[in-house]
Amino acid sequence: MNMGDFIPVNEPLLDGNEKNYLAECIDTGWVSSEGPFVQRFEQGMAAAVKRKFGIAVCNGTAALETAVAALELQPGDEVILPAFTIISCAAAIVRRGCVPVLVDSDPVTWNMDVGQIEQKITPRTKAIMAVHIYGLPVDMDPLLAIARKHCLRIIEDAAQMHGQTYKGRPCGSFGDISVFSFYPNKHMTTGEGGMLVTDDDRLAERCRSLRNLCFQPGRRFVHDELGFNFRMTNIQAALGLAQLERLSEFIGRKRRMGSLYARLLSGVPGLQLPVSRTDYAESIYWVYGLVLDDRISWDADEASRRLSRLRVATRPFFWPMHEQPVFRRMGLFSGEAYPAAERLARRGFYIPSGLALTDDQIRRAASAVEEIMK
Ligand SMILES: Cc1ncc(COP(=O)(O)O)c(C=O)c1O
Repeated sequence: MNMGDFIPVNEPLLDGNEKNYLAECIDTGWVSSEGPFVQRFEQGMAAAVKRKFGIAVCNGTAALETAVAALELQPGDEVILPAFTIISCAAAIVRRGCVPVLVDSDPVTWNMDVGQIEQKITPRTKAIMAVHIYGLPVDMDPLLAIARKHCLRIIEDAAQMHGQTYKGRPCGSFGDISVFSFYPNKHMTTGEGGMLVTDDDRLAERCRSLRNLCFQPGRRFVHDELGFNFRMTNIQAALGLAQLERLSEFIGRKRRMGSLYARLLSGVPGLQLPVSRTDYAESIYWVYGLVLDDRISWDADEASRRLSRLRVATRPFFWPMHEQPVFRRMGLFSGEAYPAAERLARRGFYIPSGLALTDDQIRRAASAVEEIMK
């Protein structure tokens, strides 16, 4: 990708076994989801997060749709999730006829404030969707305790958390079922791709069936349930396997990039930087986010415009679910307020964070940030 001197926000690293494995797909003619890389990638991901089963799908959004469908939640069932997340999470819940119930973010870690979950539980609450945001995991121990106490299912959205751990235990190993995304801005990519991981044989079987149109083994074109075509191709899985081989190297690099940014930006006034470590995890800096202090008179959009003029790409933070026009039109979240999520959306943005970024580009991006904050 040649972008001149513009520093891109995300560029993947594809210089391991990617080319060899892709050539193998072409040489053998295995390009569909029937090819051998799919199973190898599924087994590799499951092993990496200490789960029994991996089920590869075509993207992270599809993985969430499959997870909600596999759990057999009923229309009207309530699922608790953070207000501050990507729309895929709430969309998967709404499409099944279930009701998304929001909690606000912790303003320091940017993850869901687990302390707010219990007050949102009603007799209709059936599940919690725990979404790890930007680099640090959700504080899982209290969340697991609440789920146990109220007999709730857990969907863990680890779309951004490849290679992260919570108290030493891999993200992707919590709850009934966990999902990953392999979009190119993630720590590992398959171009487009996703994965479900679980220890539950029945859930794994349901996910395999749901991703493949619920074809039945005996009578292929006779269907008991509506499924999806969410299959991952051998070509995507070939890329994924090559990326997985380097995951711990990638995490090491991301942490060094995060530390370098932190060193360069820690003295800059008016900015909240990502938390580098808590007592349960060290950030893997999926993205390097910045939040403008309230005393800065302009917002994240203006910061992005100013950085763009200095040839530094940025992306806005998520826009909260209760402020999504599509959900408001459906009558959802009316009158609800989540001040921490609203503030993150308006004052937060992230700067170049991709694995292909050089230290020199990080220094240039950081000095551009310093420049706009003067
Ligand atoms: C937390 C989270 N969940 C789900 C997704 C959806 O993944 P995909 O883009 O592969 O559909 C993303 C994408 O960034 C995400 O950040």
